Amino acid sequence: MQRIAVVPGSFDPVTLGHLDVIVRAAGMFDELHVLVVHNPAKTALLPIAERVSLLETSIQDAGSPGNIVVASWSVGLLVDYATDVGASVLVKGIRSQVDVAYETPMAIVNRHLAGVETIFMLPDPAHAHVSSSLVRQVSGLGGDVSPYVPAAVADFLKRS
Ligand code: PNS
Repeated sequence: MQRIAVVPGSFDPVTLGHLDVIVRAAGMFDELHVLVVHNPAKTALLPIAERVSLLETSIQDAGSPGNIVVASWSVGLLVDYATDVGASVLVKGIRSQVDVAYETPMAIVNRHLAGVETIFMLPDPAHAHVSSSLVRQVSGLGGDVSPYVPAAVADFLKRS
């Protein structure tokens, strides 16, 4: 039986913390779907298609093992996507107790809705302070975000 998992998120934009979790999770599953999900609670910086493209380039540049699929999802429940692709696990990166508090109710609801389990992975502590919202803020004010994001993202934001 194939072990298939989904790493969902806004990825607006993908950070080095996301990439660390994605690459490590890809080593734990036969197939890993990195899913860009529209989060209506957040004001977006990048269009979904651009986030997908930057994820694909960043994953390739990181020497991806080739079992990663990047996709997007904007209609319906996240667990519907997971069920459609045969995934029984969601993977979430956890930086702090704040993330645990935010993710725990969603993990329980997703298990109740469709029997999909959530596993929490700790990013490398070097990235524990990095968030997409911080990157959006620093970049928007003209600061250098290259320590926090893959090179493709830093280049893209510099050109934007
Ligand atoms: O990177 P983010 O913004 O923290 O990601 C949050 C996201 C998109 C993973 C979360 O909002 C989500 O799971 N949305 C899917 C909507 C859904 O299925 N909701 C019902 C069960 S929680």
